Amino acid sequence: MSNISETHIPGSIAIIMDGNGRWAQRRGLPRNMGHREGCKTVEQIIEDCARLGVGYLTVYAFSTENWRRSEDEVSGLMQLFRYYAGRLLVRARDNNVRVRMIGDRSRFPRDIIEAINKLESETRDNTGMTFVMAANYGGRDEIRRAAMDFAEDVKAGKLEASELTEETFSGYLDTAGIPDPDLLIRTSGELRLSNFLMWQCAYSEIVITDVLWPDFNKDVLLKCIEEFNGRKRRFGGV
Ligand code: FPP
Repeated sequence: MSNISETHIPGSIAIIMDGNGRWAQRRGLPRNMGHREGCKTVEQIIEDCARLGVGYLTVYAFSTENWRRSEDEVSGLMQLFRYYAGRLLVRARDNNVRVRMIGDRSRFPRDIIEAINKLESETRDNTGMTFVMAANYGGRDEIRRAAMDFAEDVKAGKLEASELTEETFSGYLDTAGIPDPDLLIRTSGELRLSNFLMWQCAYSEIVITDVLWPDFNKDVLLKCIEEFNGRKRRFGGV
């Protein structure tokens, strides 16, 4: 295993947690059992990242496209959000973690919106890692909503359209104030961005692991970080 003391820990990590369904199918279990195991992995990885000194951990929990899954799977995921909102609050308190949600929460059932609001407000003053949960999130939808808000501000005379810089626009995104991911990890071997943090990942290093999300753990995370450490980041320069 890598020597952690020599490992440079990325400040901002994002994860596309893929493979829950396959994990369950391989065991002859319903897909929702895979999501249940996936939630346990989320809990553990939050703690691991907080202890490793990661500043920001962003996970893709539910995309704007995931509503198209079967009614059974969507309602199973909603049940998991309900159950884990309470558990995450305890984990966040224990690990001094601040929780933020990105995505359009308005489409969720009222009790889930309230649970998310509570998670954010009760952890706001924590000073350790920030855990960002992307739920009903889509990169294009986020950019569309940001563009609408910007247009409203121009209409209200708050600023001129010509004044828009990349920094100003970033401030309209759900991720305002959250550093762009240094490292983007995708599990289960797929080579797609799937509408995740499209603006923010412009210069992120992407590491793909074949491990399915329920099997992801600290050792796999450290291997991904090791691969990240071997990359030369040029940000478009030479
Ligand atoms: C992708 O696996 C996973 C999802 C669409 C959902 C991920 C959600 C969780 C792990 C729950 C997160 C919960 C909290 C509380 C943060 P897939 O179903 O697409 O897998 P497959 O590609 O093998 O079918």
